Amino acid sequence: MSEKSRKIVEVLNGKTVSPPPLWLMRQAGRYLPEYRATRAEAGSFLDLCYSPELATEVTLQPIRRYGFDAAILFSDILVIPDALKRNVRFEEGHGPRLDPIDVDGILALKEDGVLDHLRPVIEAVGRIRGALPDETALLGFCGAPWTVATYMIAGHGTPDQAPARLFAYREPKAFARLLDMLADLSADYLVAQIDAGADAVQIFDSWAGVLGETEFADYALRPVRRIVDSVKARRPGARIIAFAKGAGLLLRSYRQETRADAIGLDWSVPLSFAAELQKDGPVQGNLDPMRVVAGGAALDTGVDAILQALGNGPLIFNLGHGITPQADPDHVTRLVARVRGETP
Ligand code: CP3
Repeated sequence: MSEKSRKIVEVLNGKTVSPPPLWLMRQAGRYLPEYRATRAEAGSFLDLCYSPELATEVTLQPIRRYGFDAAILFSDILVIPDALKRNVRFEEGHGPRLDPIDVDGILALKEDGVLDHLRPVIEAVGRIRGALPDETALLGFCGAPWTVATYMIAGHGTPDQAPARLFAYREPKAFARLLDMLADLSADYLVAQIDAGADAVQIFDSWAGVLGETEFADYALRPVRRIVDSVKARRPGARIIAFAKGAGLLLRSYRQETRADAIGLDWSVPLSFAAELQKDGPVQGNLDPMRVVAGGAALDTGVDAILQALGNGPLIFNLGHGITPQADPDHVTRLVARVRGETP
């Protein structure tokens, strides 16, 4: 089967596919017992990310169980700061920790060796492609520079990214340098993923929603555009999904200004507005992950509303953000059947 006939690629090329192809953000993860078992075997979370064999295994787990239309490479957005020697750790129950970076730290960052450090991840991409069914697309990904920078500056997750917002106002030059460096490294990393067999890539800007209008232009739009331009200049056939969580009305120009092929929508985006955005090209989303936790009527009505509003245009069905550890795996079975029109 040629790459072109993978349904998600067709949608990314602007076609309407019915029923829409689907995958779920964070589809490999702690809600799956088989993931928890492999994770325990790996030791640390980063050991799992850097083991081509185990990363391949956990990438394939949700495909075996649910037959999603795409697999997403198992890794993390923070492997780039890890490759930049920012001492990334994932502590049980605490989320990610890094050494917080300052102006001197930014000036001292070295790009050399970053792609070498990420070689096991690229090796995993090739292995996954070799093991996937022909009809299943493989997605690569990276974090958007703004979202990655928020973790590098605070040194951990925060509810509103105040440390990074403050740093950007106080040290605009150093901050711009950090974003540019992250954009250039991310572009190289995505090109390597595409060359190893990824059909398309997603750029996750999970923290776009905390930015004001001007800052959104400078810190979300501009660096993502830099990545898209760089990847497409080198790999013109590359297909790119840009997900700016919480961007709201700023999504109106997000596709044109980033030149991404598709835009990801979180669940706060009204379906009427999503339908407007879909007139300009493919959209992806946007079920509230809590509907998957709840199951039953909450799940069914949420799925149906998206299919009704967006099913007649180019749509990749997905959640509005990552699936959570509390989600019941059987609810995901029900979701997949519902999207595919296979429920009685
Ligand atoms: O989607 C997939 O199945 C592929 C794997 C994937 C992970 N992280 C695995 C992971 C992807 C695409 C990511 C992206 C990611 N990582 C984002 C952007 C998407 C989003 O959810 O907003 C962000 C912000 C991160 C950073 C990160 N990694 C955080 C904040 C955390 C801790 C919170 C949490 O969900 O646990 C992680 C850890 C992480 N990344 C886990 C997994 C499966 C859980 C760690 C574990 O198994 O111990």
